Parts: sequence; C-alpha cells; structure tokens
Amino acid sequence: MARLISSAAASWAATLFSILAIFNVIIPTVHADSSPVYIKGTDANGVTRTLLDSRFPALYTGNFGDCMGGQSLLNVTAFDAAYYADNMTVLFHLAGSTNLKNESLMLYISVQAYGEDRFDLTFNPCNANIGSLCPINSSVPISAEAIIPVSTSDVSNIPPIALVIPDFEGSATLRIFANSSQTQIGCFQAVMRNGATFSHPAAVSSTLGAFTLVALLASFVTAIYGASIPQIRTHYAHSLSILVIFEVFQSIFFSGALSLNWPSVCAAFWSNYAWSAGMIYSPKMIRSINHFVGTNGNSSQVGGAGSTVLNNNGGLQQQIYGRSLSLSSRSIQSIERGHDVARRIYARATNSTTEKSYTWAGSPIDPGIGTPGNWSGFAGELSESNIPASDAFLLGFLWFLILVVILVAATVLFKWSLELFSTLKMMQRDRLALFRSHWLQFLSLIVLRSMLIGFFMIMTLTLFQFSSGGNGGITAVAVIIFLIFFVSILGLAFYACFVRLRFGRYESSPDKIHFQRKKGVVPRLSTVRESEISKSDKAATTTVASMPFFRIRYIDNDKERQSVHEDEDFNKRFGWLSARYRRTRWWFFAFWVIYQFIRACFIGGGSANPSAQVYGIFVIEIIAFVAIICINPFEGARNTALAVYMLGISKVATAGLSIAFLPRFNLARIPTTVIGIIIIIIQGILTIAVLILIVLGAFSSYMSLTRNRDRFTPHSMEGIRIKYFETLDRKATDLPPPPPPEPEEPKEPYFSVNTVRRAPKIEDEDVDILPDMDNPAAQSTFSIGNRTRANSMRSTYSSYSSVPYGARVHRASWSSRDFTNWQQQQVTEEPDSAFSTPSRNPSRNASGNNTAHNSLQMTNNGTASVPPLIRPSVSHGSLRPTTPTIEQQAAAASQRAANAASAPR
Ligand SMILES: *[C@@H]1O[C@H](CO)[C@@H](O)[C@H](O)[C@H]1NC(C)=O
Ligand SMILES: *[C@@H]1O[C@H](CO)[C@@H](O)[C@H](O)[C@H]1NC(C)=O
Ligand SMILES: *[C@@H]1O[C@H](CO)[C@@H](O)[C@H](O)[C@H]1NC(C)=O
Ligand SMILES: *[C@@H]1O[C@H](CO)[C@@H](O)[C@H](O)[C@H]1NC(C)=O
Ligand SMILES: *[C@@H]1O[C@H](CO)[C@@H](O)[C@H](O)[C@H]1NC(C)=O
Ligand SMILES: *[C@@H]1O[C@H](CO)[C@@H](O)[C@H](O)[C@H]1NC(C)=O
Ligand SMILES: *[C@@H]1O[C@H](CO)[C@@H](O)[C@H](O)[C@H]1NC(C)=O
Ligand SMILES: *[C@@H]1O[C@H](CO)[C@@H](O)[C@H](O)[C@H]1NC(C)=O
Repeated sequence: MARLISSAAASWAATLFSILAIFNVIIPTVHADSSPVYIKGTDANGVTRTLLDSRFPALYTGNFGDCMGGQSLLNVTAFDAAYYADNMTVLFHLAGSTNLKNESLMLYISVQAYGEDRFDLTFNPCNANIGSLCPINSSVPISAEAIIPVSTSDVSNIPPIALVIPDFEGSATLRIFANSSQTQIGCFQAVMRNGATFSHPAAVSSTLGAFTLVALLASFVTAIYGASIPQIRTHYAHSLSILVIFEVFQSIFFSGALSLNWPSVCAAFWSNYAWSAGMIYSPKMIRSINHFVGTNGNSSQVGGAGSTVLNNNGGLQQQIYGRSLSLSSRSIQSIERGHDVARRIYARATNSTTEKSYTWAGSPIDPGIGTPGNWSGFAGELSESNIPASDAFLLGFLWFLILVVILVAATVLFKWSLELFSTLKMMQRDRLALFRSHWLQFLSLIVLRSMLIGFFMIMTLTLFQFSSGGNGGITAVAVIIFLIFFVSILGLAFYACFVRLRFGRYESSPDKIHFQRKKGVVPRLSTVRESEISKSDKAATTTVASMPFFRIRYIDNDKERQSVHEDEDFNKRFGWLSARYRRTRWWFFAFWVIYQFIRACFIGGGSANPSAQVYGIFVIEIIAFVAIICINPFEGARNTALAVYMLGISKVATAGLSIAFLPRFNLARIPTTVIGIIIIIIQGILTIAVLILIVLGAFSSYMSLTRNRDRFTPHSMEGIRIKYFETLDRKATDLPPPPPPEPEEPKEPYFSVNTVRRAPKIEDEDVDILPDMDNPAAQSTFSIGNRTRANSMRSTYSSYSSVPYGARVHRASWSSRDFTNWQQQQVTEEPDSAFSTPSRNPSRNASGNNTAHNSLQMTNNGTASVPPLIRPSVSHGSLRPTTPTIEQQAAAASQRAANAASAPR
C-alpha cells in the first residue's frame, strides 16, 4: 500500500515536474547520476524494502519564502524539507548567506497541515555537526543538510491521507533563533506537497484554450458567412457565445478573488483558469512589470540580510529589538521541550557540505509574492500561478492587448489569404463577399467585442489595483484603462439603446399585480400583472390578493419599424452587442454591462472588507440569477442553458458556499477543504458542460454553414439539420410557442381553415411544392393516397432537404407550356395515370401561378395535401375540353371537394 501510495505520489510529482518545466519555473538542475543509487529503508510498519535514492518523498517542500516579510537576517537560496515515509526520515537542507559575524543559533522546524502543527523539532546545529551554522559566520556560506531519523511517535500526527490527498494543505517552517538575544532572526516557510494536485495549468489550460478556440472559430465563421445580414444574425445567434465561455472561466477564476482564506484545493483548481483572466505567467513580463510597479527583489533568493555589516558584539540585540521582532511564546516552549529529543536525534545526523539539489526541490518565491502556504485572498490565489498581486492588473491588461493584436492579425491574414485564393482562382470570386468587402468593419467589431468580453476582467483588475494601492505610475495607468473601458463599453451600450429607442416614447399606465395560487407538485404563489392576463384567463384565475402597480411601456412612433434583428443598419453597428439576444430582449447587453460592473466593484474593489464583499456578491448573484431567468435573453438554446442556468447556479452556489470561509465563522481547515471540494465539483461540472456545449455548438455552426448546400454529411444527421433550421426560424420570430395541436378528427372529411398550424413565410410563397416535372420518380411522394400530415410537412420543408435553405427554387412560376410538356410526358408514360387529364384541374390551367400559391396555403393548413393534383374518380376518365368554362370550373371545384371526401386516408 505504502509503495502504491509513494509510486502514485511519484508519478503525480513527475507530472507536476514536467508541467512546471513547461511553465518555465526555475527548477534546480537534477544531478543525473549514470547509475541509480539504491538504499534500504524500513517504514513505520517495520517493512524493509530496497528504495531508489532519487525517489520522491511522501511529503516535500515546494517554493519557499521569507515569513518575516523580508526582514530575515539571512539570505536563503535553498530551503528543502522532506518526509520519507518509507524509511522514516526527515530531510532538511538549507543554503544561503548572512552578514552576521559570530552568532550561535537554535533551529526550529515545524510542519503545519490543515491549520494545525503536525510535527516540530528544535535542534542545535552544533549537535548536528552543521559546521556552517555553528556559529553562523559571514565569511562562510551557509550550507546545512540534516538527515533526521524519526520515530513513529514523531510523525503520528501526520494522518496517512495527508500523503495522497490532492493539494495537501501544509507548510514547513524553519525558524532561526539567535542565542545572544533569544530572538527570531530568520523565518522561512515552504509550501508542502505530496505530488497530487488539482493544478495542471499546462494541460487543463491548453485543453480549455483549444476548445475555446474551436468555439471562437465557430462563432467567427457564423458571423461572416452569408449574404443577408438578418440571416447571418439568425445563425450567429445560435453559435455558442465566446462572451459566455469567458464569463464561465472568469467567474470560476475570480471566485478566488474574494478576500477569504481559501483552502489550497480551490486555489490550485482555479489556477487552471487563470489564463482566461490574462493571468499567464511569463518571467520576462513579470520582471518588467515588477520594475514598473516598483517591486524589487532577487528571484533567486529570499531573506533580507542587509548589506550593512552588523556588529554583533552587544549591538545585535539592539538591532533586532529595534525592529521589534519578538519571539513567540510557543517557539520558546518548543526550544525548551525539543532540547532533549534533539540531542538524541542530532547525534545521528550526517554532515554533508556538498550542495545537493533534489528533483522535488522548490525555488525561492519571486519578489512580490506572498508567503507560500497562505492562500488568502486574490494574492493567495495568484501565488499559485507565481504572479504577484501587484502585477495582476498590468499583466492581465497586457495579455488582453496581446490577444486583441493576435485576433486582429489573424483576421487580416485571413482576409489576405482569401484574396490570394480568389486571385489564384482557388476559390469562387464571390465567396464570403460580405466579409471581404467589409473586413475593416469586422475588425473594429472584433476589437469592440473583445473589449466587451474583457470588460469584467479589466474592471475587476483595475478596481483591485485601486483598492490595494500601488505607486503613482501603475495607479495612473489603471485609471486610464478603467476610464477607457468604462466609458466606451457603457457609453456604447447606452448609445445602442438610444439609437434604437429614440423614435419612441415611454408610457406609464396603472396596472395591478395579482398573486395567484399555482397548482403543481409544490403549491406556490405566483405574481401576474393584470395586463398580462388575457380576457379568457381572467375568469379562470384564482387571485389570492392584488396590489396596485404601474407598467411602463415603450411605444414606437413608427409602428412599422422593422424588428431589431431585421434592421440591417442597427445590426451592422450594434450587432456585436445585441445579436445573440432574442428579438424582444435585444437590450439585454445594457443589463449585462451594469451587472458585470457591480460584480467587479464587489470582487475587485471590496477586497478590504471580506464580509461586505462576500454577502454583497451573494445577494447580487441571487438577484441576477432570478432576473436573468425572468428575462431569458438568449435566442440560442445552448447559450440559454449555459449562461442562464448552469452559470447562474454555479455562481450562486459558489458565492453561497464562500460565506462559510468568512473569518468570523473560524471554520477548521478540514471542513474548509471539504467545502472547497464541493465548489470544485460544481465548477468542474460546469466546465465539462461548457466543453460539451462547445462541441454541440460547433456542430450547429457547421450545420449553419451548410445552409446553402443540398447534401449534408453525415447523411444520417439530415433530419437534425432540418429540425435545426426550423427551430432557427421559429426562434428568430421570438413569438410565444404555438398552442399544442388539437387532437385530429380523422373521420370527418372536411377542410378546416381553423387549424392553421404554421404561418406562411415569405420564402414559402416562392417555394414550389410541386415535384420536379421532369422527374416522374419524385411524383410518387405526392400520390394522393398518402394524404398524411407528415407528407404535407415534408413537401413544405422539401426546400431544406432538396434545395439550399433560403434559396429560391428555379421554377418559381409556372408557364402553361411547362405544364403541357409534363402532361404529355405523363400520358405517354402512364396512360392510366390520374394526371392524364389536364382538364381535371381547370383552375391550374386557368390561373397558373396564383393557384400554386393557393395550393400552398392549403398545404399549410394541414388538411389537404396537394389539392391541384386531385385524383379523379375512374368513372370520369374521359377527356374534357382543354379550356374550361365557368360552370366547368365550379363543377371541378365541387368535384374536388367530393374527391377529398372520398379519397383514402
Ligand atoms: C531515506 O531515504 C533518503 C532518500 O533516499 C535518504 O537520503 C536517507 O538517507 C534515507 N534515510 C536513512 C535513515 O537511510
Ligand atoms: C542579501 O540580499 C540582499 C538583497 O539582495 C543584498 O543586498 C545583501 O547584500 C545580501 N547579503 C548577503 C550576506 O549576501
Ligand atoms: C569565520 O570564518 C573565517 C574563515 O573561516 C574565520 O577566519 C573566522 O574566525 C570565523 N569567525 C568566527 C566568529 O568564527
Ligand atoms: C564568538 O562568540 C562567542 C560567544 O558568543 C565567543 O565565545 C567567541 O570567542 C566568538 N568568536 C570570535 C572569533 O569572535
Ligand atoms: C544556544 O542556546 C541553547 C538554549 O539555551 C543552548 O542549548 C545551546 O547550547 C546554545 N548554543 C551555543 C552554541 O551555545
Ligand atoms: C541574487 O542572489 C544570488 C544568490 O544570492 C546572487 O548570486 C545574485 O548576484 C543576486 N542578484 C542580484 C541582482 O542581487
Ligand atoms: C562535518 O564537516 C566538518 C567540516 O565541514 C568536518 O570537520 C567534520 O568532520 C564533518 N563531520 C562528519 C560527521 O562528517
Ligand atoms: C496570509 O496573507 C494575508 C495577506 O495576503 C495576511 O493578511 C494573512 O495574515 C496571512 N496569513 C497567514 C497565516 O500568514
């Protein structure tokens, strides 16, 4: 079992190591011995095994920092500690330098896990034969290594689960005390890990990034493909919104920006999403930002041994006390308590002066990053990604700029390559004509849309920058960026509303709110406005109470104005804001911008006051969740599912669970971790849902792209495509769903115009529902014997399957010559055919095109299928005059009715 655990830990750690290597984190070079060294080790159960010397320990330290806030009197370049469970050894390694001349020390090592001390040890370096610390001497570099055998009782506080749980929440602390003053002169803390972690930024971020790229391409292609703007908009509205995808990722990442003491699991998990908020670690960028922000330090060491040579002949106490650094009482106790134990252990410690680096060793934290092992607030979350909190704003903004530049460059490249293909005749000249002629407009829309997507992130980061302070330069930049985003996005959002609404006025009229009892699984009260209750419902409603209210209505001066999505001019200018929302909810972007700004104020600006921040964000999320469900803004079903429900639930749940972390509840760290894992599960499910929806969205966008094609591969999905286009059309009108179809009365053969199920559309008028006359095979579909509703539906939508969607059928009008040709063909091929007598259908001959239209309407009412092609009864099979008289027409009409009645169903 222990071997399993340790090998699992080792494989986890190896993964981590490669990830860190990819992420360019400084890792000490591994001493690659040509032949592996094996040792024998006995674990707590007395089992002796042969072990690889270079294996990963069960628990080991990662990056380390100065826990005296840079006031330690030592500069430390390496601080490693490890616990080998398989040979019961604690290993400790320290390297550094100091300016102290002659000072004897006591060392205190402790391991905290889940908020409690699990292991501590005080020892005198002289007893452990650590020459460079006994006494400490400025001219001798510190190099201390101790291998300390431990007994079962020493490590009894470390539960076995600590060795396997992901993101073990612990830290190892080394405190150094000067004997002369009995004060702490150095403190170094390293995060402890066991190799298992939720943080796999390279793997997870690149997966999420690749999926996002797919969604980005899908949404871009639907935005440029097509000729008519309303049609492009309809299809674009059903692609998955990049705005929503980023909102999901950013909402997950910024849940850690609240000023709470997060469990390590959450901080580690959220680091996978840091890229979405522009928190991408790049040593060069961090260095230059540090320079600008004014963070200075040496990233290859921690500590603050001043360059001034301290005189410790009686003066050291003064120096140390002058800094008011006091020894904690617990540490003094530990010195006294640990003394006996230490003597026993140290005698066996080895003395190694050779500098040794371990594969698992951490490195000094970069300047500006908080103490390792402290995941408090946004700074703690960012430390997981190795980013100083003071750099967050500028780093995010720079990556945002880089992203925009990449998008613009990619679009320009795309445009040029299209032109190249077109010139080389590898592509039809009119392909993507709209995009190619308006590409500059598209570019500006891409920039604006990116700003909209980045709005929440930039607002949060700038507000965080304001609240956490900083030097003048960075604050000035933050103010400028804040104003640019705030003014341009809010300004454009409200300008867009103004443009659309300026030709109308608002009217407020008295209204009443009725509280009604609703039946269901859970009986509840619902509120309905009186103006929304239809006359027929009024009698049926069971109003419990009512309350006077008012109602504001927008009245457009121009009653005939096109709907917002038909308005080409508006779409060209503000489609980037409104296109994905329903016709009646096109203004949702204004709501969204305000909501995101309020969120940003709480998350970014409220970092000084955790209670207000956490309760505030919880209330905001609940209100927004309910409001967005009521508004139900999105036209696309996938966007609705994701943005309205899944994201809303995740935000509310995360905000609600975060309340438990408030300092006032003083929750123990293990329950904290359990709650953290619940948050991770919620957000993990959300992420998986996003990935699935991206795939579905990509497929729907693919179907959108094939809208002008007859054939669709995979062919088995043809039915889905037809359904998709039907849904698209229905949703674009944004009318309430049609009432459920009334039960059919198949026995009664009569026409009923009351059962109209589908309003005729403009396209329908031109779609020729008759079979291709040159293709007799197609006519079998239209045999009157199959007079079923499905058949008539199929003929209505044959435009989807046999001709490109939205395209015009060639034979949009009839000429009598066509018909005669067809008749002749019929006569020669099937002399007994029902269609061999043209005069059976006099109205067709007489009024041609017009009748085709009428016949279509009859098809639409779903009762008769293809009336012009009535099968005559056999007894009337004789030829009639080709030009019918009025009486003959009337007779034919009654004949037709009779046929309809007698025709088999
Ligand atoms: C335990 O294993 C480590 C790593 O292989 C080694 O450095 C250490 O000396 C071992 N401890 C003992 C007591 O042999
Ligand atoms: C310790 O580091 C500081 C800052 O990097 C440096 O000024 C000082 O000289 C160093 N002291 C020693 C003894 O190396
Ligand atoms: C410090 O080390 C140097 C060189 O090893 C030695 O000359 C000096 O005496 C030492 N100082 C003390 C206080 O031990
Ligand atoms: C170092 O300090 C100790 C007492 O703290 C003293 O006994 C010793 O002589 C000093 N060593 C040197 C080289 O000054
Ligand atoms: C430092 O102080 C401790 C505790 O008082 C003592 O045990 C130890 O021997 C001292 N170290 C030296 C080098 O005198
Ligand atoms: C940073 O620290 C390392 C190790 O202490 C030292 O070698 C290097 O010179 C320092 N660099 C600066 C710029 O202080
Ligand atoms: C430890 O190192 C010192 C010199 O650095 C040496 O004098 C001493 O013998 C070594 N002790 C052991 C146990 O190797
Ligand atoms: C963790 O860091 C925060 C500031 O980032 C600080 O307020 C808090 O005291 C730290 N907690 C511990 C245990 O060091």
